[in-house]
This record gives sequence, structure tokens and C-alpha cells, in this order.
Amino acid sequence: MIAALTGLMEKAGELMLQWENPQVFAKGKHADFVTEADVAVQELLMEQLAKLFPGAKFFAEEKKDNRLTDEFTFIIDPIDGTTNYFRRRECSMISVGAVENKKPVFGAIYDPYRRKLYHAEKGKGAWCNAQRLRVSEEPIERALIGLGSSPYYSELMELTGRTVGALMPRCADVRRTGSAAMELCDIAAGRSDGCFEWLLQPWDYCAGVLLVEEAGGRCGNIMGGEATYEKAIPFMAANAMIYDELQALLQSLR
Ligand code: IPD
Ligand code: CA
Repeated sequence: MIAALTGLMEKAGELMLQWENPQVFAKGKHADFVTEADVAVQELLMEQLAKLFPGAKFFAEEKKDNRLTDEFTFIIDPIDGTTNYFRRRECSMISVGAVENKKPVFGAIYDPYRRKLYHAEKGKGAWCNAQRLRVSEEPIERALIGLGSSPYYSELMELTGRTVGALMPRCADVRRTGSAAMELCDIAAGRSDGCFEWLLQPWDYCAGVLLVEEAGGRCGNIMGGEATYEKAIPFMAANAMIYDELQALLQSLR
């Protein structure tokens, strides 16, 4: 499947990098923005994917009325890390996942700044360009844990701060990239060992879940069970060594 999509992901990346100062619009919630580039990249992806995969359904961040069925559905974040994008931090990803019967079957995440295409297909491993990815085996005391700060939900800020306070004495350190998709690529590539976010939308994690799982790691709902894709969930991912321990620690804080 990735063969059919490589050109499109690269084209979407080129389009995204065409703007130096894109127009930014507030979406209503705290610090929640969309730019003209988010909209254009999503339009390109949906238009081209509909041609490549006739009948496919779409669930996408800048689309209205998202509803997930059992049909083959692309779950898209045209720019994950929108604030990074318009602040020119060069840390934003294009994320295209696909689910069928509400389970992930494919994921592609493109980093247009580094020209890296991360991809995974169920049962076929996780890759960055042509390089196979494996999660780390770091124990919790040496772990780097990616912090997702749920910036759009004021009611979760105190809990997020408390979580950082509880984690720091237990792990090596925390990191905040500002892109959940990038966190998941980092875990799949063994550059980071876990991540959490108390509320995260399916388009932020869908493609990355398969990438982490195919690289030997685990993802799921912090409060228990697998990740689901209909609506935002408390999300976590980690290497297989520390997943249970990290989950127990996070659950104890809720
Ligand atoms: C955001 C990023 C960020 C995470 C937010 C997401 P967006 O995605 O992934 O790291 O903390 O919760 O919404 O809005 O830039 O596509
Ligand atoms: Ca986005």
C-alpha cells in the first residue's frame, strides 16, 4: 500500500512547505488553531486518496461531521503540530492512518522537513524510508517519556502538570515535541520510550499506533484496553518493557 502512497505523501509535504507565513485561524478552544495550509493539505490528500482507493471513507481533523463505521476509512491529520508549523519550529507531520472494522490496518507519517516517510502495514513491520524500525528496551528509570499536554482542554492542565511531577523522579526525563505523530515515530524508532496525553484525537494517533505496534511496542487507552478511533481518548504508547508500569503510574493519578 505504501508504494501507492509515497508520491502523494511527498506531494502533500511539498504543498505544506509552500507557505512561509500562512494565515492562521482560531478554532475556538484554548490555543487551538488551523491554517490555510492544513485545509489545503487535507483537500489534496482526500481528493487523491479518493481516486486511488474508490469507496474509501474519510475521518479527518479539518472535516465536519466525522463518523466512523466498519468500512475502510482513512483517518487523517493534514498537519499534526499546527502550532509548530506556523511558529516555524520544523516539527510537524502529515499523518494518514487507515482502519477497517475500526482496527488499524495501515499508517503513514511524513516528516517533510527531513523527508522521512514512516510507514507500517498490519503484519509487515514498521519502516522509516527503507529502514526497519524497532522500539527500545529501556527500563522506566532510563526512559524518555513524551509529554502530550492536551493544550485545548483547560480542565486537564492541572492533571497534566501533576503527571509530569510524578513521572520525572521515575524516568530519565520528559520531552515535548508538540506533535503526537512525531512522538509515536520516536517511540517506534527507539529514540524515545513512551508517551501519554490525557485527551488525544484519533487523527493524532491513528497512523502512529500501527507504527509503534509493528515496531514491537504497545499503544492503548490509559484507563485500559486498546486504542479506539471514534473520539478522543486518554492515550498512551510505550515500549513493551515499560507499558504496564507506565500505565499503572498514570492510572494512579486520575
Ligand atoms: C496536536 C499535537 C500536539 C498534541 C495535541 C494535538 P494538532 O495536534 O499532536 O502534540 O499535544 O493534543 O492536538 O492540533 O497540531 O494537529
Ligand atoms: Ca492538525
